[in-house]
Amino acid sequence: MSMSFGRRFSRREAIGTAAKVAAGVVIAGAIAGVSGYYAGSSAVLPTTTTITETRTVGAATVTMTTTAVKTETKTVTSPTTIVSTVTAAAKPMKIGVIGKSVHPYWSVVDKGSAKAGEELKMAGVDVTATFWVPYKEDVPAQLKTMESYIAEGYAGIAVAPSDPDAIIPVIRKALDAKIPVITIDTDAPASDRLAYLGTDNYMAGVAAGKAMLEALQKTGLARPGGKIAMGTGSLTARNSLERMQGFKDVVEPVGYKVLEPVCDYEDAAKALELASATLAANPDLIGAFGVYAYNGPAWARAVEEAGKVGKIAIVEFDATKENIEPIKAGIIYATVAQRQYFMGYYGVKLLALMSQWGWDSALKFYIPRYPANKIFDTGVDVVKKENLKAYYEEVVARGEPVDWTPD
Ligand code: BGC
Repeated sequence: MSMSFGRRFSRREAIGTAAKVAAGVVIAGAIAGVSGYYAGSSAVLPTTTTITETRTVGAATVTMTTTAVKTETKTVTSPTTIVSTVTAAAKPMKIGVIGKSVHPYWSVVDKGSAKAGEELKMAGVDVTATFWVPYKEDVPAQLKTMESYIAEGYAGIAVAPSDPDAIIPVIRKALDAKIPVITIDTDAPASDRLAYLGTDNYMAGVAAGKAMLEALQKTGLARPGGKIAMGTGSLTARNSLERMQGFKDVVEPVGYKVLEPVCDYEDAAKALELASATLAANPDLIGAFGVYAYNGPAWARAVEEAGKVGKIAIVEFDATKENIEPIKAGIIYATVAQRQYFMGYYGVKLLALMSQWGWDSALKFYIPRYPANKIFDTGVDVVKKENLKAYYEEVVARGEPVDWTPD
């Protein structure tokens, strides 16, 4: 775990926030939409720095430009090109990013958020992205953190809800206070969140199921009625439920028996215990699916410790160092690697630019067919030993941070 992760991670921060609120230091008004935002902002505007965002939406190329000037113009220069110039922020704004647990997976989201903040700052938009995660799955702590961000007048919140139902009222409360909320990593579609940025988790589960079938075939472990186990970190978060459903929808129809998932509530040590216990209780197991980032490594270690390498096919999620090493070692067959850097990066940009351009313009710019579609699919890569090097090159080219090498 990086030091900066530990530094920014905080219950301490939530407590600090509560103390500030009690002392009356609430930055209200800074988040009341575009008009409220500029009201009373007499701070010095940065000199004309410009940020230009270009995105292809179907056949149309949309360019949005934010410049530190005092006018707002929006012109349609051709049927397919919209150019918008909006006054940049003179007042600092805070964007909150709320993750689900302490793990290198989330450090990458943190890096994406911080990068977006830096780029916006360089363009004269004064944004600070605050990243927060609980130690492990902790729904009340997530809700409390959101409450404190609302009280502190954050300009926007990106949250990965561990419980998509429990989060509904607090999302409503933020929106009522004119604070835009989006979900990242795992969605809460029954809430009024404005958009979801992340993996299509059902389809990613399908990809994991297909990789499992391939692994069983290739290793000669395939047999009718063979048992497959699943280890996960949540029984409420949609990403966990959708991945497991997608996985089962592929492997069950061809005759495999998928066991009930074992859940560790995002506690990696518990994940290992559960994986070992499952192996011990099911000597005839032929496959294991690691639903969250640390679950694959937990299965790999349990399989190694039980002396069963080569007898159990493992498929996992994510591509941190601990996920990749067992692939190199031939213990894990494949991983469904998420692109979580972009959940943080685009999440912060979208929220900051919602304050700049107005909610609707920014949402339409980032999300094709908004509002009919409120989902920004960040995509996945299925990574195996044979395409590890190509994947590595791809990740580097896309600018995502990597903590491993392919050799
Ligand atoms: C999931 C996250 C989870 C993380 C770490 C990822 O696969 O998308 O929701 O918090 O694993 O466990």
